[in-house]
Parts: sequence; structure tokens; C-alpha cells
Amino acid sequence: MDRNEAVLRELKLYPLWQRRGEPAPVAAAQTVQAPGYAALTRPAQLPAQPVSGITVDGPVALPAAPATADDKSREQRIGELGWPQLKAMVRDCAACKLRAGCAQTVFGVGDEQAEWLFVGEGPGADEDAQGEPFVGQAGKLLDNMLLAIKLRRGQNVYIANIVKCRPPVDVSDKQLPPKPDEIATCLPYLQRQIGLIKPKIIVALGKTAATALLGKDAALGSLRGTVHDYCGIPLIVTYHPAYLLRSPPEKAKAWQDLCFAVQAHQPQGRA
Ligand code: URA
Repeated sequence: MDRNEAVLRELKLYPLWQRRGEPAPVAAAQTVQAPGYAALTRPAQLPAQPVSGITVDGPVALPAAPATADDKSREQRIGELGWPQLKAMVRDCAACKLRAGCAQTVFGVGDEQAEWLFVGEGPGADEDAQGEPFVGQAGKLLDNMLLAIKLRRGQNVYIANIVKCRPPVDVSDKQLPPKPDEIATCLPYLQRQIGLIKPKIIVALGKTAATALLGKDAALGSLRGTVHDYCGIPLIVTYHPAYLLRSPPEKAKAWQDLCFAVQAHQPQGRA
């Protein structure tokens, strides 16, 4: 079994059926045409976003960036940090109450000059224990999703989260999403990471990442299939791997989104 087949099997998308008389399906890792996306188009280029900022093409539902003079200078200071200072500041951060409930901060991992940035929600139990994003079951699926488009963790890929500290779990041990104020406090770190990495494409994994980065609260389904703009960087929205583990039939849509992201990463006419 070759690697593509293994990946498609993992995504529960194998075998690729071929209707008689139609061209054979293209091997997974070479496919860039997302089926069912004929009506989905890249919007006209939006103006560059303010560096602090969160986009623009809709009502902003999350709290604006912190507004007091102190918070403003914090955000500005973070925006000027280099990697070592940024890592140290995140490591020592106790700016919101999440830090008290977790073992350590989870900064992010990967190639600091990556073209691809994948953004999740926040660390879970495994990530909290190991200090690295997406190392649990959802992480295994994310690694396979990366492989499906010929990417590998750490090679031209950076993985980070909206918040760096593990949010609490509810009574049934379900991981809660971070609260808007926790997101607003932590977001300047990710914004600085993006400023330093300068990725060519951002893939938002799940609703929390999408709405935090886009600054609008919308159903995830309505955000898929569009090339959004984050400070001039194309941003694609897809399902969170943890959701895909709970809803395997949705993996086919995630596959569409990944193909769409490959297209957005290499728009026609660009090498
Ligand atoms: N889920 C996330 O959103 N991020 C992780 O790092 C792990 C699970």
C-alpha cells in the first residue's frame, strides 16, 4: 500500500471510485481541485489588515483587542518581540486565569519560516503534558491530514493554537473552548508568531480558530470554501481534527478543504 492510499484509508476516503467512462480520480496528494467547490471563489483582494487585527469581512463578535493603555502597550510590546523573547514571555505568562489550571504553556511547534500555518483552539491534556500542540489523537489525524497534502509536521509547517494554556474541562471531562477574554488576552502571541513566520497560508482548524482569527462569529460551514484574508495572508477554514474523530463522515469535507488550501497556496499563475 503506498502512502497516498494509506492516508486516504486513514481519512476513510479510500477507495476512490471511478464511474465508467469518466477520467480516473487523481491520486490524493496530487489533487488540487476540490470537488463540489465550483461555486466557491477567491474574493477580490481585501486591503491589508492592521497588524493587530482581526479581519473585517463581517460583524466582529469577539471582543476587540484590549483597550486600556496598559493592554495596548502590552500588545505593542508583544508585536515587537523576536522569537526568544516571545517564547520566554509565553512561558512565563500568567495574564489570564487559564495558566493557573494547566501544567505549562504550549507555544507552538515547527518550521519558523514555514509557508503553512495550522491553527487549532488550545492545548488538551496530552499537549499540556508534553508542551507541544496536537500530540494526542487529534494530532495523529492532523499529521495524516498534512501527509495527505504532502506536508509533514516541522517541515514547512508550523502548528499553533489560539490560546497557549489548556482550558478547563466540563463535568463530563469534555474540553471547553477558551472564553472570549482569554482569547483576546492570548491572541497577540499568535499574531506575533504569524508576523515572525510570515506564512503563505493559514489553515484555521475549527470554529474557535476561525472566528478568533477572522473576528467574526459565523457557523463553520459558512466559512469553508472561501479564501479569507488575514493581514494579507490567505486563510482557509476547515474542521477541527477532534471534531473529525467524532464525526468521521465529515472527513471528506475536510479533504475538500485541504485541496482548496493547496489551491489557495498556489494560485494560478504563481510558481
Ligand atoms: N486541540 C487543539 O485545538 N489544539 C491542540 O493542540 C490539541 C488539540
